[in-house]
Amino acid sequence: MSESTVHDVVILGGGSGGYACALRSAQLGLDVVLIEKGKLGGTCLHQGCIPTKALLHAAEVADATRESSQFGVKATFEGIDMPAVNTYKDAVVTRLYKGLTGLLKSRGITYVEGEGRLVRPDAVAVGDTVFTGRNVVLATGSVPKSLPGLEIDGARVISSDHALTLDYVPRSAVVLGGGVIGVEFASVWRSFGVDVTIVEALPHLLPAEDEALSKQLERQFRKRGIAYELGARFSSVENTATGVLVQLESGKAIEADLLLVAVGRGPVSAGLGYEEAGVAVDRGFVKVDEYCRTSVANIYAVGDLIPTLQLAHVGFGEGILVAEQIAGKSPRPIDYDGVPRVTYSEPEVASVGITEAAARERYGDAVTTVIYDLAGNGKSQILKTAGMVKLVAVKGGPVVGVHLVGSRVGELLAEGQLIYNWEAYADDVASLIHAHPTQSEAMGEAHLALAGKPLHAHS
Ligand code: NAI
Repeated sequence: MSESTVHDVVILGGGSGGYACALRSAQLGLDVVLIEKGKLGGTCLHQGCIPTKALLHAAEVADATRESSQFGVKATFEGIDMPAVNTYKDAVVTRLYKGLTGLLKSRGITYVEGEGRLVRPDAVAVGDTVFTGRNVVLATGSVPKSLPGLEIDGARVISSDHALTLDYVPRSAVVLGGGVIGVEFASVWRSFGVDVTIVEALPHLLPAEDEALSKQLERQFRKRGIAYELGARFSSVENTATGVLVQLESGKAIEADLLLVAVGRGPVSAGLGYEEAGVAVDRGFVKVDEYCRTSVANIYAVGDLIPTLQLAHVGFGEGILVAEQIAGKSPRPIDYDGVPRVTYSEPEVASVGITEAAARERYGDAVTTVIYDLAGNGKSQILKTAGMVKLVAVKGGPVVGVHLVGSRVGELLAEGQLIYNWEAYADDVASLIHAHPTQSEAMGEAHLALAGKPLHAHS
């Protein structure tokens, strides 16, 4: 059966990229079909950002309870009731899911539940029904990857999908991969009382971040009792009577209840008809230009399916970019360096712009940096957090990198993002008064120092 209508936009995948494209397209007066095989909201809402941040908040409450005597508050930490934590987490997801479903309906978007397949460059089939579009947007997202020969069984060797639905707290865990997912789960589990060891192949945790941030995170993780093996490669895993035995290439062996595999997420593109329709694909990722256009006219791709940063807010941005082009507007391509990145561990790590190493490659000796230690920031001392604001700037030019580590610093990144994206100079920011006592003062102080007039800093 084929529908007779030709729609303006047919979108395959209802995660952050797909649904943002649907919402913006409808807002611009386009007739939209959105096809989703699972649940509207995708990875971010159901297996990613939202449920993990709920776990991280429960972890923060656990830490605050355990450490309450440091603040003169009497409380006893009795343990983690994992089913109750899951009830809290699931309630947050359900509320947002209902809100999102209602929002889509209110915009008049045709929502189709089912597995779609690109059957022509202008058509997606769901079962026997074919939806034809003047434009097609591919937004089928990503799933957890593994390593060759490493089988994720969902019981003792798990992915982040399984880690989110555990109904018990393991005694110990090995986390394979010290990227964003590995670091966030290690942080949650440690707060829940788990003995955690992270195994990371590269020389630092969060290897994509400025090295100063990674080192500071490593120091604080060590203090928290989170173990890590850096520059360490996984060799094999075998089941034992009580859990797993993980072997590293160095010959070291680590025993634990669980192995969490967090070595990246891979695109969902196989078997969906993309290549048959002429869409160029590279190692599973759909290839696009800076406007998210694929190799086929009128087919676009957004979100984790394309080789840009795998972040929900990048998906939103790309979905909006595509909707605006289809509607005949002239949106600007995304500056991916200007996208804020936050790892919500304790402490948090947040950055926008480029690292010092990247800046030195790009600008040579014309690079200058400042580190403002949170030890000088009143609110951070009240919170008993350590960390820093590191700025990277071009001498006599704009700030090109804002890098933060410390409790709650993710919330400071909004200012960093304006500074980077509006190409602010140190003086522009130094002349702005920041509220006292807030952590945002550390941003002000760092820019005062960068402008050559540090206030609360030893010269
Ligand atoms: P990732 O790419 O951030 O980290 C994977 C890590 O595994 C890398 O550091 C890599 O060096 C390491 N690795 C790879 N092979 C290895 C091996 N054989 N032995 C040891 N280590 C090995 O991927 P991750 O953490 O799985 O996250 C997937 C995506 O989801 C990322 O793009 C991330 O940005 C996104 N995400 C974002 C979050 C946020 O914004 N807060 C939260 C969670 C995920």
